[in-house]
Amino acid sequence: MYLEEGFSADYVIIGSGVAGLYTAICLASSGRVAVLSKQDLIAGNTWFAQGGIAAAFSDEDSPTLHLEDTWKAGGCFGQRSAIRVLVEEAPARIQDLLRMGVNFDRRNGNIDLGQEGAHSRKRILHIGGDATGKELLEALLHRARQEGVTFVESAFVERLLLEEGRCRGIVFVKDGHSYYAYARAVILATGGCGQIFKCTTNAPAVTGDGLAMAFQAGAVLRDLEFFQFHPTVFFPPQGKPFLISEAVRGEGARLVNRHGEYFMEKVHPRAELGPRDIVARAILAEQQKTGGPVYLDMRHLGSTYARERFPTIYSRCLEWGLHISRDLIPVSPAAHYLIGGVQVDLDGRTAVENLFAVGEVASTGVHGANRLASNSLLEGLVFGHRVARAAAAIPPDRASQKSGKPEMFQLKASGKEETACRALLEPLQQLMWQHAGLIRHDAGLSLARKQLEQWWPLTGYNYAGVVLNETRNMLTVAAMMVEAAAARRESRGCHYRHDYPESDAGWETKHISFQKSAPLPARPGSMDYPQPHFYRDARNDHNGRQIS
Ligand code: FAD
Ligand code: SIN
Repeated sequence: MYLEEGFSADYVIIGSGVAGLYTAICLASSGRVAVLSKQDLIAGNTWFAQGGIAAAFSDEDSPTLHLEDTWKAGGCFGQRSAIRVLVEEAPARIQDLLRMGVNFDRRNGNIDLGQEGAHSRKRILHIGGDATGKELLEALLHRARQEGVTFVESAFVERLLLEEGRCRGIVFVKDGHSYYAYARAVILATGGCGQIFKCTTNAPAVTGDGLAMAFQAGAVLRDLEFFQFHPTVFFPPQGKPFLISEAVRGEGARLVNRHGEYFMEKVHPRAELGPRDIVARAILAEQQKTGGPVYLDMRHLGSTYARERFPTIYSRCLEWGLHISRDLIPVSPAAHYLIGGVQVDLDGRTAVENLFAVGEVASTGVHGANRLASNSLLEGLVFGHRVARAAAAIPPDRASQKSGKPEMFQLKASGKEETACRALLEPLQQLMWQHAGLIRHDAGLSLARKQLEQWWPLTGYNYAGVVLNETRNMLTVAAMMVEAAAARRESRGCHYRHDYPESDAGWETKHISFQKSAPLPARPGSMDYPQPHFYRDARNDHNGRQIS
C-alpha cells in the first residue's frame, strides 16, 4: 500500500489537548503550525478535567511551598530541577491565560482558590466550577484559530518518519487513506494511556499511541510502573464511569462505609485529603472489609452551593437520580493518570533529534512516583511554553520544504486481522486492571506477562489502520508497564506491591526505562518484546542540589 499526498509545515503537533494547543499557540509566530487529532479536537482527557490548575497565586502561598508539596506527594522521587521549573513558571502561565481572556472563577472579585489532596495551601484555580477542562480547551482552541494554526481532525498518526536518526515528520491515516507530513520539529502531545485499563476516567482516545510511537522511533520511556488511580469515581449502572473531583473533598466531603462510618481518619492524618494512592487503597480495603460500597458524603454542601460550585457533577449525578445535596454517591477507584512517559529534558526534547514530547505523554520528572492533584494541566502549559521556545530555535532546513513521498512499505490489515485486534481490547483491559492495577504482586504480574507475550505477535509494525495500530500501541505500553511493575520489587508512590509493601532504600533513586534494542522490521512484522533497563538518578538532596 502506498502513501497518498502529504504536506509540509514547520511544526507538526500530534494532539489537541492542553499541551498540544498551548504549544501551538506559543509557536504560531515562529512558522506554520499543524495540529492533528485522531478524533475531533476535544477528544482527549483535557476536556474532562474538573478540579483545576495548581499555581501559587495567593499571599499565603509561594512556589517553594508548591515545590515541597509536589515533591512530597511524589514520594520524594521527582526531579527537583523540573519541579522548580513547574512551580516557578506557573504564575506567569496563569497570567498568559488571563491575558487570553480565560475566566477563572472569582469570589468577592478575587480568583477563588480551591483545595485538593496533599496541597498545604488553597491553590487550585478553576473555571465554570468543575468545568475547568472544557472551558480551558475552548479558550485555547479559539486563540489557536486566531493565531492561524491549521487543524487536521480525524487524522490518526500511525508512526514517525525518521531520516538518519532524526525525526522528519509523520505518517497518518484519514478517511481510510494514508498521508505523510514533513516538519522541522514534531511534537508529541498525545496524552496518556488510561484505556489500557478496564475501569478508567480517561477518554476513549487515550490509548498510549504517542508512547508506542516514541518507543518505535528510538526514544527512551521511563517510570511506566507509576500509574495513578483516582479514588472517587462514580460507576453508573450503565454508561461511562464519571469522576467526582477531589475538589469536592477539598470542600469537606467525607468517605463513608456501608454502615455509615467515616474511616479515613484512621488511615491518614489528612484523612480524605491524603495522597490519592492511600485514599484509593483505603476505599478498596473498606469495600472488602464491609462487603459493600463506599460512598462520598457531600450533603453538607447544600443544594444551592453544590449546584453553583460543582455544576457538572451535580447534573451528571442527577441523570442517575442522585441529588448530591441529599444522597450518598457510591464511589470506587479507577485508572486516571500516567506518571511516567517519554523521557524529556527541561525543554521537552526526547532522545530523538527534532522530536519533542509534552503533557501527559512526557516524563519531565515533576510527578515523581505520584502526581499532586491539578499539576497536570499546569505541566502542559509550563512545558508547552518551553517546548515552543526550543522548537522555534531549530533552524529551517530542507525537511520542512520537502515534498517527495517518503519511501516506505505498509500493509493494509485484512478483515480477519482487524477482527482479531478488536477482540483483544476487552481481555487486555481486564488483564491490566486485574494484575497491573491498584494492587500488584508477582504472581499476577507473571500471569499478565505470559498472556501479553502470547498476544504480542498478533499485532505488528508497518501495518496501516487505526484499530491495528491502536491495539499494537496498547499492547506495547501494557507490556512495558507490566515489565516495570514486576521489576520494581518495592512499593513507592502509586506503585503498590502487595508482596513488597514497604519502600526499599535501594530503589530510592533507581528508574526503569525502555529503549528499543533492535531496528524495526523494514517489512511488516512483529517487533521485539520490550526489555527493561535500569539506571540511577543522581540523588537530589532536600534543596534540590545533586549530592552524588
Ligand atoms: P489529552 O488532553 O489527553 O489530549 C491528547 C490528544 O492527543 C487528543 O487530541 C487526541 O486526539 C490526540 N491523539 C492521541 N493519539 C493520537 C494519534 N495517534 N494521532 C492523532 N492524535 C492523537 N489534571 C489537572 O491538572 N487538573 C484537573 O482538574 C484534572 N482533572 C481530570 C479529570 C479527568 C476526568 C481526567 C481523565 C484527567 C484529569 N486531569 C486533571 C488530568 C489532565 O486532564 C490530563 O493529564 C491532561 O489534560 C492531558 O493533556 P494532554 O494535552 O497531554 O493530552
Ligand atoms: C480531580 O478533579 O479530582 C482531578 C484532578 C487531577 O487529576 O489533577
